[in-house]
Amino acid sequence: MANLALKGGTPIRTQPFTSWPIVGDEERKLLLEVFDSGVWSFGGPKEAEFAKKFGAFTGAKESLCVSNGSVSLEIALRALGVGPGDEVIVPALTWHATAWAVVQVGATPVFADISEKDWCIDPAQIRAKITPRTRAIIPVHLYAQIAEMDEILEIAKKNSLFVLEDCAHTHGSRWGDQGVGTLGNIGSFSFQQSKGMTGGEGGILTTNDEELAWKIYGLKNCGRPWRDGRAGFGGNYRITEFQAAVLLPQLERFEKQLATKTENIRIFREHLEKVTGITALKPKARVTRQGLYGFGLRLDPAAFGNVPQDIIISAIKAEGVPIQAPYNVVYKSGLWTPGAKLVKFEKGANPAERLGLNSDCPIAERISAKEGLVLLHHLFLGTAADMADMANAIAKVQSNASELRFDALEKKVTGAAKSFLRKVGIGA
Ligand SMILES: Cc1ncc(COP(=O)(O)O)c(C=O)c1O
Repeated sequence: MANLALKGGTPIRTQPFTSWPIVGDEERKLLLEVFDSGVWSFGGPKEAEFAKKFGAFTGAKESLCVSNGSVSLEIALRALGVGPGDEVIVPALTWHATAWAVVQVGATPVFADISEKDWCIDPAQIRAKITPRTRAIIPVHLYAQIAEMDEILEIAKKNSLFVLEDCAHTHGSRWGDQGVGTLGNIGSFSFQQSKGMTGGEGGILTTNDEELAWKIYGLKNCGRPWRDGRAGFGGNYRITEFQAAVLLPQLERFEKQLATKTENIRIFREHLEKVTGITALKPKARVTRQGLYGFGLRLDPAAFGNVPQDIIISAIKAEGVPIQAPYNVVYKSGLWTPGAKLVKFEKGANPAERLGLNSDCPIAERISAKEGLVLLHHLFLGTAADMADMANAIAKVQSNASELRFDALEKKVTGAAKSFLRKVGIGA
């Protein structure tokens, strides 16, 4: 009789974990207010209130709402003057929106590998990838980590490069006494449905530089004049009042939710320390507050019987714990590679080069496809018992990994060998 739920055993857990998004009467009330007011967009009062409060929350002098956290990156690059002929260094491990924004402004994304310790862009890799065409770096604060910002800012200063922080994952994270999104030239946040603060969709750009704020304002609001009367130039990337109405109570609730997540992460770490072959990524000493979207765990494949990552994930899920793999490396992602055929590049350009399809970032590839596991933030809004269940499910899969060896074998073989395994009832 098998122990693992994937093989017919009893799961660790059958109750669901805390689901997301969490909403209440406050969102309903504000949504109705917007509905009845007839002011549904165009820089209405809810957007103004949210932008002001989010600015205070991060410590940014200027904060400007936009429709989502992908176009925010594009707008930021345009505001920085990045365009055709320029190169922008981005991490290989990120949601592909980070690199898409670069292509969107006509520049070339240059993929840099990540560090083993934090899965964020490796400063040494940035140094190695700088060319005379490099204009900007986009560090992504990924899986509850903050990139090595002191070193990145130093590299940027030395080489006259802009720094655009992609903070889609890290609402509320703090680096020393500064909020993320205020460390580089511009910060970009996402409020998409699954993020730690959501308006269904939505984004915001933060900066301490009023010149950039003026440009961003024009870019997102059809070139309308900034508050000092200066004209801008741009399209429509506005957020709606409905999104801002949902975001206001989300921001209100955030501090309390993050305190719960922080305490639960502490408890989860304690449990996890007793499990063989798995470690949680640690925040750096400079991190004074750890906001998060996904929480990164690293498995030692040998301790899990060298069973492939996707089978381990299926086995943990079967125990009742929703766990997932990290993002695909961008240049191998099925959401990125079709661009070589679908994007029209400048005359004479090589699409594979323009999309970085021949990049080689072995650490990002290994973490993405072999060693990384991710738990989403809302799981940490539950009880201490939830934390024990999460760790116990992983421990159970680790100690019973031998039950998965035929699944692993079946994955390795093809054709006749596969049907033979099925026929004799192993690996099925
Ligand atoms: C790192 C990163 N950057 C940018 C984005 C894009 O944000 P949005 O979904 O709001 O367009 C995401 C969304 O998942 C992300 O994870």
